[in-house]
Amino acid sequence: MTTPTGPLRLGVNIDHVATVRNARGGATPDPLRAALLAQEAGADGITAHLREDRRHISDADIEGLMAVLKVPLNFEMAATDEMQKIALRHKPHAVCLVPEKREERTTEGGLDVAQDENRLAHYIAPLREAGCRVSIFIAADARQIDAAHRIGAQVIELHTGAYCDAHSGGDFTARDAELDKLRTMAAHAHALGLEVHAGHGLTYETVHPVAAFPEVMELNIGHFLIGEAIFRGLQPAIAEMRRLMEDARP
Ligand code: PXP
Repeated sequence: MTTPTGPLRLGVNIDHVATVRNARGGATPDPLRAALLAQEAGADGITAHLREDRRHISDADIEGLMAVLKVPLNFEMAATDEMQKIALRHKPHAVCLVPEKREERTTEGGLDVAQDENRLAHYIAPLREAGCRVSIFIAADARQIDAAHRIGAQVIELHTGAYCDAHSGGDFTARDAELDKLRTMAAHAHALGLEVHAGHGLTYETVHPVAAFPEVMELNIGHFLIGEAIFRGLQPAIAEMRRLMEDARP
């Protein structure tokens, strides 16, 4: 078994604070305030996805986050020219490339790196040169992981959505099969020298087995935490997630 190479980090995704703000078109709740509270509560990083349609996070939010955060910003974006320019202007600590479809409610699958290998290799080169750690959000699939490695990504983030959906749908056979895939592919990516992250759909109920994979160095969690914050407050919601993550590590 691989030994963890460091503590498991928690990146708190604040997109859905902006979703609630934008529902009324005003200034509250403020995602920057949420990011600062998350930072105080022990988040190791803040994740924000600037979508092409700006449905939640705005350009001004990214500017504000870059100005105030002490922890690293993980800037999620589609691999478009517009987003590359924005990333190169701000030079966030990390850039995570995600697939984006306008009609989807959330990021439904991983990026098809294998299909777009040449373009993506050229696309990420200037981001790496600018000092951004490049991560690719992908399915637990060896073909995609190998392609991410070949194009020069430093990190892969494994999409945990199928595992979490199977769990919440009560299909535990499918859930365990998804978990096996995630476990095997985390080890595969680590063996290639990639740093392994995971996220999407994780909750208090589903976080433990993923946090227990020794190769996983970071979890990015948003929707559940922002929802849970309604009931117990953002900082206690984050503290509980951290406790569960730490419990899962040997
Ligand atoms: N990681 C990535 C790459 C994502 O796109 C998202 C969703 O924006 C998350 C993690 C967080 O997912 P969730 O909001 O379901 O926790």
